[in-house]
Amino acid sequence: MPSVEHGTGTSMPTPWTAPDILEKLDRLATCTEKAGEISRLFLTPEHAQALSLVRGWMQEAGLETRLDASATLAGTRPSDRPGMPRLLIGSHIDTVRGAGRYDGCLGVIMAIALAARLRDAELPYALEIRAFGDEEGVRFPVTLTGAHATAGTFDPAWLGAADDDGITLGEAFESFGTDPGNLARCKPADVFAYLEIHIEQGPVLEAANLPVGVVTAINGAARWELTITGRAGHAGTVPMAQRRDALVAASAMVLAARRIAIERPDVVATIGRLVVSPGAANVIPGECILTLDLRAPEDAARSAAAREILAAFQHIAAENRTSLSAQLLHDAPATACDPRLQSRLAASIAAAGLPALHLPSGAGHDAMAIASLCPIGMLFVRCAGGISHHPDESVTVDDVATALDVMLHTLQNLDPTAFLSP
Ligand code: GLV
Ligand code: MN
Ligand code: MN
Repeated sequence: MPSVEHGTGTSMPTPWTAPDILEKLDRLATCTEKAGEISRLFLTPEHAQALSLVRGWMQEAGLETRLDASATLAGTRPSDRPGMPRLLIGSHIDTVRGAGRYDGCLGVIMAIALAARLRDAELPYALEIRAFGDEEGVRFPVTLTGAHATAGTFDPAWLGAADDDGITLGEAFESFGTDPGNLARCKPADVFAYLEIHIEQGPVLEAANLPVGVVTAINGAARWELTITGRAGHAGTVPMAQRRDALVAASAMVLAARRIAIERPDVVATIGRLVVSPGAANVIPGECILTLDLRAPEDAARSAAAREILAAFQHIAAENRTSLSAQLLHDAPATACDPRLQSRLAASIAAAGLPALHLPSGAGHDAMAIASLCPIGMLFVRCAGGISHHPDESVTVDDVATALDVMLHTLQNLDPTAFLSP
């Protein structure tokens, strides 16, 4: 990992109030590939810079830190009752391109604030904060790799996935200074639960005029990379009827995916990336690579939509005398949050004098991959206008303060024995 200076910026200990959390998030936002925007992709110098800041803050909070082979930073404190398992709390520090400053990072910095605020409190369990590096899946055509490594479900085939410059995930780990041959999972017996705090990324809490809410489940999601192969040719000489234009086929596919998703309740389909080759004004597009992201709360509805969309795409490819290949990159079923953790969070919201709204998550989270390791629970924090994956993402200091109080109450009242098998 490239070494980067870090510092807490002050010699006084941080009180870790809501304004401190927002100030740390502003500092994290300066770790970016491009000035003027927030773009922090997995295993880049900006990721290293963010890790350096987060490591400093974890240490300041009294946590012992270590970077694992998946470039996930863990900060731990032992249990006050020896032998008790760990509570994991985490989220991610990578971003999409042109991101806001709260998606993922809010959960990591709030988790550190919780550890700092509970530093002198007696806890009947060990605490481990995890800052995952790859929730967005932007640089490589794989996603949630850190959380999968933690859960023991990392597929070694992913090490061959290459970024736009042809650098494989395995090579990127090595240049970052971690050894992908040495991925270590958490043992299920060592962990009793995982909690994640995240901005809602949707409008439900704002409409209900509530600062926080309890997540019931995370929608299932699948991602494909599709390659349409036609034939490149001269834009001036090839008659329209003789063309095999890959972009014409891609355009019809974008509209077909939209039509099919609209026809099915709660199914959302997005084609968010389209690479046109050779990509010149005077050349007929010979190849297009595009992504399809498909999500739904019901797995059966998502599978049915996937079948219909992919069949429609094959039909469109043939109609345009092009060929289509589809590679499934990610397929995560809808994931339920643990009812005991939901009740615990709801009780803490009630203790703060607020109604506990339960809501599903349309966005994906590290918790989805951790669910195969241990029970998961999530607290959502209202974000203005439900805007996310956009620089206008915003939260209020009052909402962050409420979320902090709710989580402090949860952690102080969490009984690990309720999660241990008899
Ligand atoms: C991550 O933000 C996702 O839901 O794709
Ligand atoms: Mn996120
Ligand atoms: Mn995101």
